[in-house]
Parts: sequence; C-alpha cells; structure tokens
Amino acid sequence: MPARLPLGDPQMRQDLHRIRAAGRILGVENPFFRSHDGIAGAETSIAGRTLLNVVSYDYLGLNGDPRVLAAAEAAMRRYGTSVSASRLVSGERPVHRELEAALAELHGTEDSIAMVSGHATNVTVVGHLVGAGDAVVYDALVHNSVLQGAALSGAQRVPFAHNDMAALERALQSLRPQARRVLVVVEGHYSIDGDVPDLPVLAGIVRRHGGWLMVDEAHSVGVLGATGRGVAEHSGVDPGVVDIWMGTLSKTLCGCGGYIAGSHDLVEYLRCSAPGFLYSVGMAPPWPPPPPRRSGSCGPSRGGWKSCTRTLCYSCGKRRRPG
Ligand SMILES: Cc1ncc(COP(=O)(O)O)c(C=O)c1O
Repeated sequence: MPARLPLGDPQMRQDLHRIRAAGRILGVENPFFRSHDGIAGAETSIAGRTLLNVVSYDYLGLNGDPRVLAAAEAAMRRYGTSVSASRLVSGERPVHRELEAALAELHGTEDSIAMVSGHATNVTVVGHLVGAGDAVVYDALVHNSVLQGAALSGAQRVPFAHNDMAALERALQSLRPQARRVLVVVEGHYSIDGDVPDLPVLAGIVRRHGGWLMVDEAHSVGVLGATGRGVAEHSGVDPGVVDIWMGTLSKTLCGCGGYIAGSHDLVEYLRCSAPGFLYSVGMAPPWPPPPPRRSGSCGPSRGGWKSCTRTLCYSCGKRRRPG
C-alpha cells in the first residue's frame, strides 16, 4: 500500500521539515503569507504597522485607483461576481471581448484571448501549441509557468543561458533538423534582474531558423516603452516580429488573469482548442479591469495610453459606438 499523501510521504515530510528548519536557522519570522491590512502600494500596513513595500506588482499604483474601482464595480453590478460558466458555453460577456480588443490594441496585434490566470495561460498555451516531436527552447530565467507548460507539452525542453543570443543560435542549429516545430520563449522584462532581451536580434535568429517566438510581457506592460506598451516599443521594433505575445493582468493592470495577443488565426485556434480556456470558467466580470492610461481627459489620447478603444472609454467608462 502506498503511503497516504501528503503527510505520509517521506520525501514531502522531509521537504517540509527543511523549509521549517531554514526559517529557524535564519532566525527570521516567516516573511511569506503575511496578511496586509488594506491596499498594498509603495507603503503597506501589516498588523497595524506601516511598512515600505518592495514586493508588489502594482507598478503604476493603479490598484485602488477610483477609475478602476468604478469600472470594476459597474461590471460587477451589471454581470455579477461570476460568469458561472466557460465562455464557450454561456460565460461570454461583452466585457471579455472589450478587454481583448484593448489588449490587442495595446500590443499592436490583430486579436487577443484572455484567461483566468497568467500562470495557467502559459501552462495551457505552451502545453498545447507544441508536443512530442517538437522543441521548446527557453531562456534559463523564464518563469515557472513556462517550464510547467513545456513539461506538459511532451516536447523536448532546451534551456539557453540567460539573454545569450549565441547560445540560442547554437541550440536552434542543433535542433532544427529533427524538431518538427520549435517554440522559443523569453520574457520581455525579467523582474528579478531588471534586464531585457535584445529583441531585434532575437527575432532575427528565431525567424532564420523557422521557429515561433513567444514573449512573456508580465513585467513589461506599463513599464517598458515610451507609452508602456512593452519591449517592442522599448526596442523600437514592429510587434509583428513576435508570433505570440503573452501577458498577465495581475501586474500593472492590477486585476487577475492572463492573455495571449497575436494573429487572428492564433487567437481563434486557442479559443476553440486550448484546454485551459475551453474547460475553465470565463473571467469574472470585474476582471477584465480597464487597462491604464497615464493622463488626459476622455477621448482618444495623443501619444500616451489610449483611453478609448472603439467601444469603451477606460477613462470615464462610457460606451462608444463601434466604428
Ligand atoms: C513572467 C511571469 N509570467 C507569468 C506569471 C504568472 O502570472 P500570474 O501571477 O498573473 O498568474 C508571472 C507571475 O509572477 C510572471 O512573473
């Protein structure tokens, strides 16, 4: 009889013991799972103590912004707190497609698809787009969600040294003859190191070897580029050099969820076949939150964030007629 999981399993018990012992040896109070009293911005409060907060994703301080709260509340009042079904079945609401149009506009792509978690987006999309006989080639510092997706896919997994374009080229040269499809995955902005890939060079290498390029923009949106559109804007390249843009709504956009932006064909393919989209609930109505804008009054902006898509103004929440 196998030991009962999880606590009967010796390996798991040992791991847990090691984690607890590390905390005791370092003499630190557990820094994890600390409960914050309210909105955690540059400062936060824990058990009534005001503290500097250096571990938040809320890069533009939009969490709690009255415009965001108002839009989230309006969506919740109209559609409730849940869509109560997969979008395919009966969970589709206008806010989903409005969000997806806005994200496509933000990344300069034809379309986008939003899912309930950033992590799950990478797992399901990487896990679904490639499989046995294919290869996933990824920067050694890429996020865990990409690694999980690569493992799920059954494709050959090939890391290359962080931001080392020569190493990427060598990996592609050795793989390309046998691998059917090759997916190269990097981040647009590495949150711990704060560096970015050389996108024009990277895109050129991937194109030359006939691969697909996927860039995770979790930490780029709102942060990189003159108007916060991410690493393509930062690098001065056409977003079309990247086949698959990925992003999360949990960082600058201070919501919850993930998305893929790219061609109509890619998005349509994922909409009708990605398991993590088809078999998961549609995003809750308050999340899609409105993408941020920097300043200015209602109406299409000149230069900065666009405050309006064709159908919705993020600044005032007013609906506009499509056109
Ligand atoms: C690069 C990157 N991709 C994906 C994710 C997963 O996103 P989420 O936390 O929104 O699920 C994260 C989360 O930190 C991340 O840093």
